[in-house]
Amino acid sequence: MTRIVLVTGGSTGLGKAIAARFRADGDTVVITGRREDRLRATAAELGARPVPCDAGDPAQVARLAADLPELDVLVNMAGGNTDLTREATGTLEDTRAAWHANLDANLLSAVLTTTALLDALRPGGSIINVSSIGAEYAVSSYGAAKAALAAWTAGLSAQAGPKGLTANVISPGLIEETEFFQGKLTDERRARLIAATHDGRAGKPDDIAETAYFLASPGARHITGQTLHVNGGAHTTR
Ligand SMILES: NC(=O)c1ccc[n+]([C@@H]2O[C@H](COP(=O)([O-])OP(=O)(O)OC[C@H]3O[C@@H](n4cnc5c(N)ncnc54)[C@H](OP(=O)(O)O)[C@@H]3O)[C@@H](O)[C@H]2O)c1
Repeated sequence: MTRIVLVTGGSTGLGKAIAARFRADGDTVVITGRREDRLRATAAELGARPVPCDAGDPAQVARLAADLPELDVLVNMAGGNTDLTREATGTLEDTRAAWHANLDANLLSAVLTTTALLDALRPGGSIINVSSIGAEYAVSSYGAAKAALAAWTAGLSAQAGPKGLTANVISPGLIEETEFFQGKLTDERRARLIAATHDGRAGKPDDIAETAYFLASPGARHITGQTLHVNGGAHTTR
């Protein structure tokens, strides 16, 4: 039986790589995003179904859920650091707006999508949320939002387990070949991030795609409520 897989934020970067990985296995893949041209181009390239949807908009998420009565794998990939595309003024009003933007983009996007689709997920299914190595330090609203996403996923696992579902987090370190940094990653910072790894390289989208594919596989059914770090050793756990 082919699975039905939803990848939010599937037009580019890590979401596109995950969509391609499941398509290579013959699964039915639905991808979402806000930029409709980009979404349709990726969907045509991969043989996926495009559904334009802003994961932070309750009405759009409700429409998406109405279109997906059954689902096996939910990958909440939509997100990014909204601080990279806004000017900071340093006022308290602006600080509040900046924090709300990152919480909306990275936490509420996954919460809304999961809440809308939880009943559609069939037993044996998987929920995969995407955090960041930035959650380990949380010096920014982006890191704090990703840390909250990981904390919430642990509770979600307890809620979803009795339905035969797993819920896990993938937490990437630096992954290149995506639009994440919006051209703002300096050579100096890139070198510093790579120097912090044990394998001396940046990650690639396929590193994340293979991890997601494994988490949704029959061999991973006893892995739930966990955060899997994919960062070349830049942050270690024990
Ligand atoms: N690359 C890294 O180094 C890295 C490291 C740690 C974590 N991450 C996380 O990995 C995820 C994917 O990032 P990426 O590196 O693949 O960057 P990316 O290429 O910018 O991908 C993000 C995708 O999410 C979509 N998106 C953003 N907000 C959305 C929303 N509200 N509703 C629907 N779609 C939305 C974007 O498309 P539209 O703009 O068209 O909506 C875009 O296709 C993000 O959650 C990011 O925080 C990335």
